[in-house]
Amino acid sequence: MSRQNIVILGSTGSIGANTLEVVGRFKDKFRLIGISAGSNIKTLKNQIERFKPEFVAVYNEEKAEQIKKGLKGTKVFSGLEGVCRLASLRDVDTVVIAVTGSIALLPLLEAIRSNKKIALANKEALVVAGHIITEQLQKNPKSQIIPVDSEQNAIFQCLKGYDRSMINRIYLTASGGPLINCKKSNLKHVSPEHALAHPRWKMGKKITIDSATLMNKGLEVIEARWLFNIPLEKIKVVVHKEAIIHSLVEFIDGSMLGQLAVTDMKLPIQYALSFPERWYNNGQLKLDLSKLKSLSFAKPDFKKFPCLELAYYAASQGNMLPCVLNAANEEAVEAFLNHRIIFTKIPCVIEKLLKKHKDLKNSNRLIDLLELDHTARVQARELIGELAK
Ligand SMILES: NC(=O)c1ccc[n+]([C@@H]2O[C@H](COP(=O)([O-])OP(=O)(O)OC[C@H]3O[C@@H](n4cnc5c(N)ncnc54)[C@H](OP(=O)(O)O)[C@@H]3O)[C@@H](O)[C@H]2O)c1
Repeated sequence: MSRQNIVILGSTGSIGANTLEVVGRFKDKFRLIGISAGSNIKTLKNQIERFKPEFVAVYNEEKAEQIKKGLKGTKVFSGLEGVCRLASLRDVDTVVIAVTGSIALLPLLEAIRSNKKIALANKEALVVAGHIITEQLQKNPKSQIIPVDSEQNAIFQCLKGYDRSMINRIYLTASGGPLINCKKSNLKHVSPEHALAHPRWKMGKKITIDSATLMNKGLEVIEARWLFNIPLEKIKVVVHKEAIIHSLVEFIDGSMLGQLAVTDMKLPIQYALSFPERWYNNGQLKLDLSKLKSLSFAKPDFKKFPCLELAYYAASQGNMLPCVLNAANEEAVEAFLNHRIIFTKIPCVIEKLLKKHKDLKNSNRLIDLLELDHTARVQARELIGELAK
């Protein structure tokens, strides 16, 4: 394989930093063309010094102006438009989308329209607009999404060579998050610091809170539906505390295939970038099967963690309600992280917003989705304001 020209959207985050490590390990395989951040220009500057990309994009316009000063040899784009420009640069082969939140939607669509190979870590864009993204991929068949999310990456690996008609079920594994052993009655006392202490994965704040509420699995159910073109009722969630099996596929003959590995996001990132090849990697930790005592599996507790059920519900109600689910969740998680609402109010905000929009009609127009996203966020903030009083 010749060198891949690559850009990383969200290079300053957890997935972004891991991707840079993978790029650093395989210097002969990549040319890093561009990186981007929301507003963290301190980390971005360090990355520019180390990797010397030709282009950077900063979403926050003021910070973009600040970083421009003193930068030589690197062109700076700004705003969402700047992030989209980075996603569609002519000489780029691969776009890694490691931005958090549905803000990734427009850059993702830009990358598809520009026929890029996309290593997609972001889940919110597919949750919000899976039908529109699918339609764009059909119009631009040279573009392809390879999932980075460890569960989706596992399924992607298990499905290689199999037709969709041979799938009976998909099992997304859930480590259960930091609150798996917390009593339901104690959830209202959970602080952001407690919820951020994930036992298995070190990730960005938003996804860590999503793991604590199990909304992360709900988002993955919707993500899997679009990525693999699988009906919702065939996608199941199973709690697997050890987080060794990253997900499983059950085929129509009853056989199951799963993907096992250590919990390190660099592995799915590397696979997404090397696909369809596999690259030898002596820096990657390997699983020592002899040290595995047991692997456990259990049903998720839908009562204790209502977000998972809310996600199934939203996804079953047409193509617009997941946008409301996501907007309400993004706003509620931020409010929880800022100590404005308690942990147990996160599902309350989402449920109330879903009820408000229960009669939504389907639409395939991007503009309708963007307007709905805006409205739902305004409503969620109002609701949070009332709950915070
Ligand atoms: N972390 C994981 O292990 C993991 C695993 C599977 C899937 N994912 C998914 O991958 C995505 C990223 O997760 P993460 O944990 O890496 O998040 P993170 O650590 O919070 O990083 C988010 C990145 O997005 C950038 N960003 C934030 N707001 C932006 C905006 N408005 N415009 C442009 N860029 C913006 C951030 O820039 P600043 O640093 O400037 O804020 C940062 O580079 C999420 O969708 C998550 O669900 C993550």
